[in-house]
Amino acid sequence: MTLIVQATAENVAAAAERLRGGGLVALPTETVYGLGADATNDRAVAAIFEAKGRPSFNPVIVHVGSRAEAEKIVDFDIRARLLAELFWPGPLTLILPRRPDCNISLLCSAGLPTLAVRCPAHPVARQLIAALGCPIAAPSANASGTLSPTTPQHVVQSLGEKAGMILAGGKAQVGLESTVVDLSGPVPVLLRPGGVTLDELEMHLGEVQVETEAVNDAPKSPGQLLKHYAPKTPLRLHAVDVREGEALLAFGALKFMGMQGGGFAKQKLPPERLMNLSETGDLNEAAANVFAMLHALDASGANAIAVMNIPDTGLGLAINDRLKRAAGAQE
Ligand code: TXA
Ligand code: MG
Repeated sequence: MTLIVQATAENVAAAAERLRGGGLVALPTETVYGLGADATNDRAVAAIFEAKGRPSFNPVIVHVGSRAEAEKIVDFDIRARLLAELFWPGPLTLILPRRPDCNISLLCSAGLPTLAVRCPAHPVARQLIAALGCPIAAPSANASGTLSPTTPQHVVQSLGEKAGMILAGGKAQVGLESTVVDLSGPVPVLLRPGGVTLDELEMHLGEVQVETEAVNDAPKSPGQLLKHYAPKTPLRLHAVDVREGEALLAFGALKFMGMQGGGFAKQKLPPERLMNLSETGDLNEAAANVFAMLHALDASGANAIAVMNIPDTGLGLAINDRLKRAAGAQE
């Protein structure tokens, strides 16, 4: 397969160029292969979900070259500094609050106020982050619901052309995804066991709560462990018009979207109450915009957010899943 290329200096530079242009690159890490995108580019991060065929937006780990780089995007406390000191670079992911000036796509956080950060040890991953000059968002490079890949061939089998370009870096040494620890609250929570063990964490942190699948035996999707982001303003889905006091989250052409009392939304709504996920009806663009626009409309003072119909295909599935959760959370 020509998709797989050796990680020569030239190919790493080409991969960085591809990322800079909003493309995807599968990269080796010491845990498993990741499907990477420029973490600051909303459209590129949306493309990850599209390629994996994820029916919902799970938050994505952001890979950095050093603790200093991570400290630019999330707030470290002394526990986080200690763990980073001990285990980075390596198979440990820390969930920390996003900094107010964080330039990482809101899609990486799936709308949450937190972000997962990891500094990988694999030299090729490190070279690629350095060549790009900014963090790389990367979930495991497999189709949703399938096993994580530990070789470039696994990536081809699972994603094929959708991986874009695969940098080969041998067999992933750890072979198991990173340990995920949530440090955003007062008590650390182990969300996913991995290369760094619970014993090791407890030794350095004291009490650690465990909320992983292994504990209660019942298979929980990682998404279920998350507190999902929901706006404070109620959502009204499948809206065909806009009511008094509402804001509008539009999708596609707006020409005929009317106000209930008469007139067209495009003319009558103040700009801060009208956002269009994608005027051309592009689902990738819509996915890239959905969290930022919900946040903005939530702050607009409207009494509700009317949401136009979004097709239930491709990334539309993930967008609708999220909108339904946001609407349901308020009932
Ligand atoms: O070893 C790894 O961690 C690999 C390599 C590529 O780095 N990546 C990986 O990513 O396994 P992914 O997306 O397959 O798994 C990320 C896990 C998911 O269970 C996700 O729900 C959780 O981390 N996660 C990410 N951000 C989170 C957040 N802000 N809050 C809670 N959980 C989060
Ligand atoms: Mg995964």
